[in-house]
Amino acid sequence: MLKWQKGESMSREEEQFEKIPTKVCRDSEEAAKIVASEIEALIQERSKAGRNVVLGLATGSTPVPVYRELVRFHREEGLSFRNVITFNLDEYYGLTDEHPESYHQFMWERLFQHVDIPKDQVHVPSGTVERSKVYEYCASYDQAIEDAGGLDYQILGIGRTGHIGFNEPGSTRDSGTRLVTLDALTRLDAARDFLGEANVPLYAITMGVGTILKARKLVLMAWGQSKASVVRDAVEGKPNKNLPASMLQGHSDVRFFIDPTASEELIRFRLPWLVGPVDWMSKLIRKAVLWLSDTVSKPILKLQESDYNENGLGELLIHSGPAYDLNIAVFNQTQHTITGWPGGKPNADDSHRPERAKPFPKRVLVLGSEPHEDILCMGGTVHRLSHQGSSVRLAYMTSGNLAVPDNLAKQTLALMAELEEEMDLKTGEGLSLGQLAGVILKSIEDKKDSDQDTESTCRIKSLVRRNEARDAARTLKIGSKSQTFLDLPFYEKGRYRNFSPDDADVTSLVDLLEAEKPHQVYISGGLADPGSVSGVCYRVFVAAMERVKDQAWTDDCRVWSYRGVGQEWPLHEIDMAVPLSPGELASKIEASFQYRSQRSQFPFRAASHREIWQQTDEINRSTAEKYDAVGMAEYEAIESFKEIELEALLQA
Ligand code: F6R
Repeated sequence: MLKWQKGESMSREEEQFEKIPTKVCRDSEEAAKIVASEIEALIQERSKAGRNVVLGLATGSTPVPVYRELVRFHREEGLSFRNVITFNLDEYYGLTDEHPESYHQFMWERLFQHVDIPKDQVHVPSGTVERSKVYEYCASYDQAIEDAGGLDYQILGIGRTGHIGFNEPGSTRDSGTRLVTLDALTRLDAARDFLGEANVPLYAITMGVGTILKARKLVLMAWGQSKASVVRDAVEGKPNKNLPASMLQGHSDVRFFIDPTASEELIRFRLPWLVGPVDWMSKLIRKAVLWLSDTVSKPILKLQESDYNENGLGELLIHSGPAYDLNIAVFNQTQHTITGWPGGKPNADDSHRPERAKPFPKRVLVLGSEPHEDILCMGGTVHRLSHQGSSVRLAYMTSGNLAVPDNLAKQTLALMAELEEEMDLKTGEGLSLGQLAGVILKSIEDKKDSDQDTESTCRIKSLVRRNEARDAARTLKIGSKSQTFLDLPFYEKGRYRNFSPDDADVTSLVDLLEAEKPHQVYISGGLADPGSVSGVCYRVFVAAMERVKDQAWTDDCRVWSYRGVGQEWPLHEIDMAVPLSPGELASKIEASFQYRSQRSQFPFRAASHREIWQQTDEINRSTAEKYDAVGMAEYEAIESFKEIELEALLQA
């Protein structure tokens, strides 16, 4: 097995399950720095020997921090790329090199234009080769790699389908560079980049699995919780063509570098007691007992000694048994997470409640990265908080305009034009309402491919989302005065995969925090891909809290994390579970219908496809079913939260 560095290797127990050496770094930045340093060392070593180095490169959000670091090496430490030859993994078929979403553009913007690499040493597959010449072209791409001496170091990301390059499920182990059809899930994931799924190309040219496996060194990186299950399957599963990344197993020099959230599903973190000796802390005991209850399909209070023993938890019995005591302890812990008073119950004994009784009422700040997250993820809780007397502010960090389809903006503009005709309204800015609508409408109609929207179109789209958020709050009978739209600048200036938050974003949030001095803040995004909208918003929040942490009000402020749209915390992580009655769930779903812009444009795409309101309904019901299965009361639905200690938040 490969050693990471001198003296550092995987433990024997980890190797039992993991068939690819996998390093879990503190975060994506640390991982990217290691990978970039390896590449830098290789370039230097070859340069000293007067030789070239052949790099295989990837696009997407994953390698962005590696390219950033390589550019830094060039600018600050004089690293030269004159001896570097590059081959990119893939390109969308049908896109010109100049298309804003082409991988050509991506690579020039992120790396090539910032370093001294000679243009003729850069190779990215062409997306515009004539159909009849594609086969020949792909063979020549593989040949060019061979002629350059073969790939020395190939970096890879991984798609949610388990693809590497664009080798989707079904790709064979010895496949070469070729034209492929993109998987529906891959196209869905790219829909945001292309401002709508309809604009995502159907095909791509990609290096084959065989081409990739010929590289001398392979490094795959993955960030964020959405990659956790494919990482697990690739590292621990049997190699198979339905999960192309699993075919990397068996390569003599392959390593994965992942962040903690992408590692969550690995057995060493999910079920550490099966891997080796563990420190039985209270959180781990709870996790083990809840896992056991699920594994043997018995409520907690019915678990017996034999269940523990036969499922690898004999050591836990020795540590904190007998089973009866363990069962009671975890049953009570789980029971105490449930509360109908998320803001704390006034005048009640709060020694076993997730929230303090005092102060009451509380000032509550609910942060949503986009104007739909709050209600979808915690609409029932927002309703309770507000109707139980707390003062609730719903703050939307970004305007969300990038996620509004053109047709919805057009409907709004058509309405403006009609309004003018019917009511003779004027904007007072020289243009009549109808004229203004006409100008914006034309700019949308004239837009080519995935051209960026004009400022006015962005504005209209932001207003669409504002009004959806207002309608949703109104459905839950929450006054629109309690809503704040921050429109953070990083989002207004950026595009997907290309957000760079700065001081202005943090200041905007600091101002809000200082004005509200909340007793509770609700936030999501801690486990998201750090480059995604919610990942960036979370980082902005952490930076804002860092600035205000010495202010007195923070001593009395608790941070509650909700998981994100269509997701829910696993049972053992939940610190507060808020049950919803059938009526409350129905109102929340009704509120979710207001997010028209977030509905799929292709609802009949796949039988498994779920609209966001369906996902919300299913996930809240399923959390309630899980509580029921371990022996708690039977509720219709549950929303859940995890507490983040301020210290842990700031360390992250
Ligand atoms: C890109 C590529 C893809 C991506 C994968 C992950 O050149 O080959 O396999 O690495 O789709 O994409 P991100 O990094 O955007 O999550």
